[in-house]
Amino acid sequence: MKKNTVTLTDNRTGKTYEYNILDAARGPSVVDIRTFFQDTGMFTFDPGYTSTASCKSTITFIDGEKGELRYRGIPIEKLAKEHTYMETCFLLLNERLPSIDEHKEFDLELRHRAFLHEGLRQLFNAFPDNAHPMATLSAAVTALASFYREHLELDTEEEYQAMARRIIAKIPTIAAFSYRHSLGIPFIQPDIDLYFTRNFLTMMRAYPGGKMHLGLHGHEEIKEVEVRALDTIFTLHADHEQNASTTVVRNVASTGAHPYVAIASGISALWGRAHGGANESVIAQLEMIGSVENIDTFIARAKDPNDNFRLMGFGHRVYKNFDPRARILKHLQDELRIELGLNTELMAIARKIEEIALSDEYFISRNLYPNIDFYTGIILTALQIPKSMFTPIFVIGRTVGWISQLIEFKKDKSSKIARPRQLYTGK
Ligand code: SDX
Repeated sequence: MKKNTVTLTDNRTGKTYEYNILDAARGPSVVDIRTFFQDTGMFTFDPGYTSTASCKSTITFIDGEKGELRYRGIPIEKLAKEHTYMETCFLLLNERLPSIDEHKEFDLELRHRAFLHEGLRQLFNAFPDNAHPMATLSAAVTALASFYREHLELDTEEEYQAMARRIIAKIPTIAAFSYRHSLGIPFIQPDIDLYFTRNFLTMMRAYPGGKMHLGLHGHEEIKEVEVRALDTIFTLHADHEQNASTTVVRNVASTGAHPYVAIASGISALWGRAHGGANESVIAQLEMIGSVENIDTFIARAKDPNDNFRLMGFGHRVYKNFDPRARILKHLQDELRIELGLNTELMAIARKIEEIALSDEYFISRNLYPNIDFYTGIILTALQIPKSMFTPIFVIGRTVGWISQLIEFKKDKSSKIARPRQLYTGK
């Protein structure tokens, strides 16, 4: 009977070391090397963690080869098509979809928790009008920790749920207030009569008194198709295994810091253009390219090893196939093209870039496919959401994932403080 282990030989000494293979419920197994340093006196070396599993998790599964994504075992295609973002939040937090009553109770609680402490509103005034909303969002979420100190001691399921529901509910309000502050216009308070996503769009767009924004087509109510489009975008962004910002959230939580400063750290990490900041950069890049005729120049730059220009929205550490979320968004774009008046020029440039890149050896050999950020921006632009709010939208969707991963970490009694070592090359 073959043993479920790997054996390593140090050829300098001939000594061998044996390590257990831990099998996954789905996807790659891992080699348990927790005693490697005490056994061998050496560290493993894996900057960027390309071959390292940092934890056990039951939340999200990704198969990079097949382009598969599941939340609590349910395929993302099913959730995006048949369930609301609120149901997906309940699923991520509770390992199952809600009953009708649970769904109603969860939705209602989040509506009530959407309001901010009046003291928090003063914080926004400290920022210049042109502050990027991601800066105010991260600072405001850090400040939340001072308003809810009781969340430092989490023991019961009720305490975990209250802490999680509070931050999920307040993030859209903070994001909308950050945007309104950047325009120098009054804030719109949350409205408990509105569903989560409609409420956010209203806080973004309404005039004082709740009157709808004078849009391109005159006074307009927020259409159901817009709410559904953004709700799907939130679902697609809800969680994504151990990505860079989730790793930051877990690491900050591992020191015993307040859960909300861990979320604020995740917000800061997500801002980078190699991560969640890519969605804003994609649209800026499409606008810079300007027309289909200019694409070849930029593709050449993306391939030039001496040019650090990258095609934003392409490539992924895990997906070496199409990002399933990009596939869903691409279909959504086709459905919404007429109803939302999508910017067909930007869409034409995006489609042409995708067509050229997917047939070009440079991209094929490196498995560079469009990722979620490549398509999000075109739909958000049609929803009259400015580029500066694209990454805050990502934050709104992802907060439930971050807080679910944080809770999983804190409930795991074997969790330890994150403290990697190094290969010292100094004097
Ligand atoms: C997200 O991890 C997650 O799950 C993240 C996310 C989530 O939901 O949390 O999915 C969200 O962050 C999506 C990714 C958004 N970022 C972008 O679109 C920015 C552009 N893409 C990249 O910078 C890059 O592809 C990464 C950061 C996404 C992945 O980087 P890796 O896995 O570390 O790959 P790499 O940098 O080692 O690149 C491998 C090769 C290199 O070429 P060689 O050195 O082998 O010659 O591919 C090249 C890179 O130069 N390459 C690109 C490229 N991305 C990688 N070349 C041109 N354009 C690109 N976009």
